[in-house]
Amino acid sequence: MKVLVTGGLGYIGSHTVVELIQKGYEVIIADNLSNSSIEILKKIKQITGFRPLFKLIDFREMDEVKSLFNEYEFENIIHFAALKSVSESVKFPNLYHENNVGSLNNILECIKSNPRKNFNLIFSSSCTVYGQANKLPITEDSPVVKQESPYGETKKKCEEIISEFCKKNTNLNSISLRYFNPIGAHKSALIGELPNGVPQNLVPYITQTAIGIREELTIFGSDYPTKDGTCIRDYIHVIDLAISHIDSLNYLINLNEKNHYSFFNVGTGNGTTVLELVNTFEKVNKIKLNYSFGGRRDGDITEAFADCSKIHNELKWKANLTLEEALESAWKWEKNLNSKD
Ligand code: NAD
Ligand code: UD1
Repeated sequence: MKVLVTGGLGYIGSHTVVELIQKGYEVIIADNLSNSSIEILKKIKQITGFRPLFKLIDFREMDEVKSLFNEYEFENIIHFAALKSVSESVKFPNLYHENNVGSLNNILECIKSNPRKNFNLIFSSSCTVYGQANKLPITEDSPVVKQESPYGETKKKCEEIISEFCKKNTNLNSISLRYFNPIGAHKSALIGELPNGVPQNLVPYITQTAIGIREELTIFGSDYPTKDGTCIRDYIHVIDLAISHIDSLNYLINLNEKNHYSFFNVGTGNGTTVLELVNTFEKVNKIKLNYSFGGRRDGDITEAFADCSKIHNELKWKANLTLEEALESAWKWEKNLNSKD
């Protein structure tokens, strides 16, 4: 079974590629290396014993996407390739639209022009589409709201485009996965998250502080209406997240239906405060973290955690790894990264 993995050298993509190869899938990675490195291919080979096919392409370029579809035989696509920084998207909204929405449109155009082939597409979406939901845990019935950032807007728009496309085209079945907060790394510590510049996300900021790259973690806000005053999120181990893509793909492969489109939350179902996460990091890794409390970050929501019963009931997927395991793997990855510098 062949699978095209767009953005397959990135953080979530590389972990998914490893799981795919280990389950016997033949993988074609297509990436423009805008936020990843070709070195990751070697690490994938080190972990799995296989070097997947790799094509350097930019999904914004229609000619390149067409030649990818002509050159390789595949019917299954996991589409990770996108830009993902909320703050950068505010500065460069057009770039985010062109890259994230434009790339998807090019892929869909190629699917449309291959009407004799039936495709399955898994799309990387985000819980950001819910904004601050009124009811917690967040189910898929929670409304998708107007987005605060151009990044969030691209996720909302892409979901809408795929949903409409599936209604009109019988050769595509698709699932969007709304990730909660992916963290952690592969247990080998050979692949993990590689933030660009100063990390904006919590866990890479913590590991960089613990290793001494950053002086101190600022916890954004201590006056939220939560049990300890800090924000609540649903942190999911990247390996569990990777596996959810394979389970989603298998569901579509075995589906005897046309025009299928559905979307699922992918989280653990547990809400963790920033302070609880910091304390857990210190405890499992036996390390003291330098941190202080600061003001709230603009655009942050108070609380988000998933109701994962839909994906459990329909796709039989659930998260198996713990917050402790995720934070242990994140720290091992950071140490490994720095031991080579
Ligand atoms: P990442 O930046 O590590 O990986 C994305 C990969 O796509 C990179 O290797 C990059 O080089 C590639 N890419 C980007 N634009 C491309 C283009 N035009 N053509 C070809 N390749 C391109 O990001 P990630 O954390 O692995 O995220 C993967 C997906 O999951 C993204 O769609 C992201 O929006 C989504 N997502 C991520 C998170 C998160 O916290 N990491 C949360 C929710 C959703
Ligand atoms: C952010 C993005 C969201 C994206 C998600 C996953 C914003 C507003 N939202 O969400 O669109 O889908 O990442 O990539 O950027 N925190 C600190 N100190 C830090 C960093 C973070 O206290 O230095 C806190 C935040 O205030 C938040 C929690 O840690 O409460 C998690 O932050 P982060 O990892 O950035 O994820 P999200 O805020 O959920």
